[in-house]
Formats: sequence, structure tokens, C-alpha cells
Amino acid sequence: MTQTDPLEIIARFYAPGSPTWAMLVHHGKAVARKALDIAAGSPFAKSLDLQFVEEAAMLHDIGIFLTHTPELGCAGVHPYVCHGVLGNRVLRAMGLTTHGRVCERHVGVGISVEDIQRFDLPLPPRDMIPETPEEELICYADKFHSKNGVPEGRYKALEEIEKSLKAIGEIHWNRFREWAFRFEGIRLN
Ligand SMILES: [Fe+2]
Repeated sequence: MTQTDPLEIIARFYAPGSPTWAMLVHHGKAVARKALDIAAGSPFAKSLDLQFVEEAAMLHDIGIFLTHTPELGCAGVHPYVCHGVLGNRVLRAMGLTTHGRVCERHVGVGISVEDIQRFDLPLPPRDMIPETPEEELICYADKFHSKNGVPEGRYKALEEIEKSLKAIGEIHWNRFREWAFRFEGIRLN
């Protein structure tokens, strides 16, 4: 039984009440709610650690403060695409290695070594694709919620998700399609 308190951890790096804190907490809650709603209606729910899903969903974007993303109020030095690797580093340092894996593997629908080379991404050359059902579910749920600088974020329609993933590559869209079917019974073209 873990003693992880996501809000307490977030408060170590984000000033409670600040716009970035509010956006991060709202986004984490939205992704957690989406993931838990899906789990509640899925045969996969029985095999999932739902407490972990909720905690890790709350923490998956904790690394953004280390990135240079002024529109989100983040004054770090790293490119935004590094926020997963950075979040993993932050949580691993606390001993939260499984939560850290979610951070590292949730960007896009996961990033492969081939993607890193093809797009010349400033990331360590290793596969960062969700592997466990919990990692896959949080990554999937996250795709529906954008952080756009306002606390309440924005819900993304499937068409918008399709467009952005196809722009990266068919393999990315196909991974999302598989999850949509497995988690929600949705058949996408
Ligand atoms: Fe996210």
C-alpha cells in the first residue's frame, strides 16, 4: 500500500494557488477521472491498480516546471518534449519508480528510439512506450486533455487527436486506435 500523496508532491515544486499549480492539478484530475471512468466500464479494470492509476495520472506531468514553456508558466531550460524524462527523474529521486515510468512513457502515445532518431529529439536513446495496462491507460486518457495555459484546460475530440497523431506517423495513430478499442470498445478507422 503506497503512501503517495500527489498533491503534497506537486506542492513541493509548484506554489499552491499559482496559475501553473492550478493548471497542473486540474489537468491531473481530469486525466485521472477519464482513466478511472474508462476503467470502471472496462473488463480490464479487474487487473488494474486503480489507486496507482489515480496517483500516477495526477503526477504524470510533474516535470513541466523544468521545461522552458512560458505559455504554461514554466521557466526551466529544457525543451517541452523532455518533460516526461524530467518527471521520471524527479519521481525516481523520491523512490517512486513506477510513477516515474508513467511520466516518461506518456508523451504522445509513447516515443520509440526510431522516433527519437527520426525527429532528432533531445531525448536519451531508449524506447519510452507505455508497457503496463496502467501506463497505457493513463497515456490514452491524457490524449483527450490538453493543457493550454488556462486552469480548466480543454477536452479534445477524437478527430483532433487523430489529426495530431497521424501527423507524427501512422504507427502512432494505430497504437491509439488499439487502445480505444481495448479500453472503450471504440472502433476507429
Ligand atoms: Fe498530460
